[in-house]
Amino acid sequence: MAHIDEHPAGSALVAVIGLGTMGAGIAEVFARSGYRVRGIENDAAALERGRSLLQKSTARAVARGKLEAEGQQQLLGRIDLGTDLSAVADCSLVVEAVSERLDLKTALFAELDRLAPPEALLATNTSSLSITAIAAATARPERVIGVHFFNPAPVQTLVEVIRTVSTSDDTVERTYAILRTIQKTPIGCGDRAGFVVNALLIAYLNRAVRLYQDGFASREEIDQSMVDLAGYPMGPLALLDLIGLDVAHAVLVRMYDETRDRLHAPAPLLTQLVTAGRLGRKSGRGFYGYSGTDVTDEPGPVKPPPASRAAELPDTLVMGYLNDACAMVQSNYATPDDIDTGMVQGCRMPAPFDVLAQYGPATVLAGQRQLFAETAEPGHRPALLLERLAAADDPQAALAALRTRS
Ligand SMILES: NC(=O)c1ccc[n+]([C@@H]2O[C@H](COP(=O)([O-])OP(=O)(O)OC[C@H]3O[C@@H](n4cnc5c(N)ncnc54)[C@H](O)[C@@H]3O)[C@@H](O)[C@H]2O)c1
Repeated sequence: MAHIDEHPAGSALVAVIGLGTMGAGIAEVFARSGYRVRGIENDAAALERGRSLLQKSTARAVARGKLEAEGQQQLLGRIDLGTDLSAVADCSLVVEAVSERLDLKTALFAELDRLAPPEALLATNTSSLSITAIAAATARPERVIGVHFFNPAPVQTLVEVIRTVSTSDDTVERTYAILRTIQKTPIGCGDRAGFVVNALLIAYLNRAVRLYQDGFASREEIDQSMVDLAGYPMGPLALLDLIGLDVAHAVLVRMYDETRDRLHAPAPLLTQLVTAGRLGRKSGRGFYGYSGTDVTDEPGPVKPPPASRAAELPDTLVMGYLNDACAMVQSNYATPDDIDTGMVQGCRMPAPFDVLAQYGPATVLAGQRQLFAETAEPGHRPALLLERLAAADDPQAALAALRTRS
């Protein structure tokens, strides 16, 4: 890795701003595919951290046989590091991956707009901020787009591509084309809290917390049913402990703020655990207790249910999740194909529209109607699309046609 000044102007194509966990990974991904990358950090100390992240990550790839030692040197040689933002002046793409603060990002995008070539695309890796607001800080909102990489970026293939009301078709097409050159799988959606993957995943996790909190079943029954019967890689409560309860809580707050759907309001138990400092694995306690990476036999935060309804699992959780996926398609937010790709590649969960086909739309509709009747939660109202699929002469054929169109 060299300092930016050591390379002639015009040789750089992609700038990555912020070389923390995500930015360093994104810089590595572009350099691996032959792009000349300019990595820009706040100050010398942060730049050194970024350099070290890049060294370690590529060394791991060599140790795992994914990269030759010579390839590692070539890859690192394509990344120039610096602290001067004006190095974006000859870049055709800028990917921003700085800390998750709107004031920071809007100020940065105003600067990038001034410094980057007029035709350059300005992309943000934000997980939860309004990309529309970030774009509005520039005079080129049509060239601003969200590219939501997953962690670790060198390993995870999925990237959510988020267009705002201002993003042009040309920007979306160019972004898809670039992402394909770095062997990523783009899926598309609009600028709503949680995008596709987190909106579906975190809403499902929140419902699992409510079931546990309300004595529907024990934490073990909930988690085991999703693993053993629904084929998910982890149970929802164990997964929350892994993600960090505070991280999930923050996503829910943002979702609820936008949708006002009470099902997106963090379950009271989740809020209580965050307030109590039980953040999951990273703090040693969440829904389970941990000793290092091992789960201890510490009892959960809720007393065992007096009358478990575990026999109704995993359907109660799966139906709600499928209904949410249908609502997303119905509102023209994302296609069934993109939702399936997102959940499989982003979470290793079964593809929702495959599961919908397995249950059959009529069965899912009946389950969702029962849930809605029992809870009277507007968020549990069956999606119109689900109603329509179930009412079709041949529901399976209607579902297949819907999936073919996407
Ligand atoms: N960590 C994840 O799992 C994950 C996943 C997807 C998206 N994201 C998003 O990616 C972004 C970065 O997250 P992260 O986890 O890598 O954070 P991080 O804290 O690891 O890194 C952020 C970096 O940005 C640098 N920075 C801050 N202001 C800067 C500026 N003005 N100019 C240049 N550099 C600056 C910081 O020095 C730091 O190194 C956030 O928007 C986050 O929401 C994170």
